[in-house]
Amino acid sequence: MLGFQVTTLGQFIIERQSEIPGVKGEFSRLLRDIGIAAKIISREVNKAGLAEILGEAGMENVQGEDVKKLDVIANQLMIDCLSRGGECCAVASEEEEDIILISTPQANEAKYVVMMDPLDGSSNIDVNVSIGTIFSIFERVTPVGTPATKEDFMQAGNKCLASGYMIYGSSTMLVYTTGKGVNGFTLDPSIGEFCLSHPNIRIPKMGKIYSVNEGNKADFPEGLNTYIQWCQEIDKETNRPYSSRYIGSMVADLHRNLLKGGIFVYPQTTKKPDGKLRLLYECNPMAFIVEQAGGRATNGYGKRILDIEPTELHQRTPIIIGSEDMVKQLEQLM
Ligand code: AHG
Ligand code: MN
Ligand code: MN
Repeated sequence: MLGFQVTTLGQFIIERQSEIPGVKGEFSRLLRDIGIAAKIISREVNKAGLAEILGEAGMENVQGEDVKKLDVIANQLMIDCLSRGGECCAVASEEEEDIILISTPQANEAKYVVMMDPLDGSSNIDVNVSIGTIFSIFERVTPVGTPATKEDFMQAGNKCLASGYMIYGSSTMLVYTTGKGVNGFTLDPSIGEFCLSHPNIRIPKMGKIYSVNEGNKADFPEGLNTYIQWCQEIDKETNRPYSSRYIGSMVADLHRNLLKGGIFVYPQTTKKPDGKLRLLYECNPMAFIVEQAGGRATNGYGKRILDIEPTELHQRTPIIIGSEDMVKQLEQLM
């Protein structure tokens, strides 16, 4: 022993496998495949600045090859890793209009579908600011042995078996839940492994950070503007004013609030009556994580995000998510 012990993501997945009712090795292998995709996407993200030198997206690089946008690359890498493992029959992605059936011969035998936002915060790629990947895993509802259909994806978030995100920040992390708490792993590039660094993450019940794009204030519901004003008032007893923090990558904004306590809001606006963020690829997976960490996620009008029954793949929903007491407080004003 060198006095240094790490739990890698691979070890952790296998150790915890028995905790999830009804799932076996296939499910662990699926999580492992996502862990592999995370390492490859992380590598590509780290090279993003260099890609810029070689040519802009949509143009040719010096070798005469097309330079692909990082979100397209991340999308394809996830699909490739999920295809190779053989445990996933179909994928729905923010980057794809329709569901993608995995094209391997054994895919129809697979039990699981994956929904994802392969690159979240894409406006931050070119400026070297944190971005992420969001995923969730569901058991298919159509019979094993047949091709998956859209129906397999029209499931409320409360049916989700596992969800998680990767954040490509000052370090790369993978945070996930299988419904038994939330655990975070940091990529140690020297050994190429995700190592358990944040076991059993709990979001503080109350925080001091509010995250919302205040540029849209003129279009916000009145209750939200009242809340923002309240956050900015001086009051020693309630620790106000709060800090305003908004990165513009949902993953990064929520990751910070998960660790420090805070509220993240993407509301309906007069221009976007359904909000902006996608229920299946962004809101459900993040709501599952935040709830599992002890927080709360609703649409601001009394509906739990995880209880919304989806009707469309790319459906959007307003969202209020984060520390329980902060979310409840804003809900009262809405
Ligand atoms: P994506 O890059 O996957 O399209 O997601 C961007 C999303 C989300 O990450 C972020 O919270 C939000 O858009 C920011 O939107 P605004 O620029 O309208 O604030
Ligand atoms: Mn996104
Ligand atoms: Mn995206």
